[in-house]
Amino acid sequence: MIATDKSPDFSELDTQLQSKSPRQIIEYAFSQHENIAISFSGAEDVALIDIASKLRPDVQVFTLDTGRLHPETYQFIDRVRDHYKINIDVLAPQAAAVQALTTEKGFFSFYQDNHQECCGIRKIEPLKRKLANMDAWITGQRKDQSPGTRLGIPVIQTDENFAGPKRTLTKYNPLANWSSDDVWTHIRALEVPYNTLHDQGFISIGCQPCTRPVGPNQHEREGRWWWEDATKKECGLHNTNLNGG
Ligand code: ADX
Ligand code: SF4
Repeated sequence: MIATDKSPDFSELDTQLQSKSPRQIIEYAFSQHENIAISFSGAEDVALIDIASKLRPDVQVFTLDTGRLHPETYQFIDRVRDHYKINIDVLAPQAAAVQALTTEKGFFSFYQDNHQECCGIRKIEPLKRKLANMDAWITGQRKDQSPGTRLGIPVIQTDENFAGPKRTLTKYNPLANWSSDDVWTHIRALEVPYNTLHDQGFISIGCQPCTRPVGPNQHEREGRWWWEDATKKECGLHNTNLNGG
């Protein structure tokens, strides 16, 4: 979509979509955009692919291969590709930037410097490149994933962080109002393939060095970047959650 002077105001539409099911939201998104893709992390957001591929069998899906995912996640991404007979666009970071970071600071600089620099190179830059040519993207964000940052996520929003020059980018979060239980009920009931890390106590799954299983009564987000303050646990993919935009 080519941007006009003013970004569309989705607040009224968002209110309507908040009460719709993920399927209805994806159906709506597909009715609005041809050039739309699912951003797949290799975790329980596979539910999105399950729903969307039934509506559009050649649905566009991409994943950010940070180079630091668990082997189980790489295996899972291939399983999803085979199971749904879809292409998954694998986005790699710029080799020169990764090389400069690891040469200068080693492989685990995020434990000292926090994760933003590494995420910036391995996730944000490739995502920016991808989304610069898209009209819309679909994520698996949910309100219950992070009391600190995601309680207010809309179902539809304008994404000004990643829009290409002179383009409007729309972001859909169809699972916003599903709980973790809802997602898992869907996965179990429909025998959707899932990442085997979930059988090992992992709930929220990101990169291997920045993810760990959680114990009883711990929130899923506590398994991510556990050495950092809970209110900063966004890697930049979803900065709209932090800046209200
Ligand atoms: S993150 O920002 O903290 O890493 P999270 O793991 O909660 O995100 O996932 C929320 C949504 O962000 C996923 O459902 C997916 O849409 C997107 N996402 C996260 N990681 C990736 C990834 N590596 N590749 C593609 N999309 C991703
Ligand atoms: Fe780097 Fe960790 Fe961010 Fe992955 S999650 S890109 S390893 S800082």
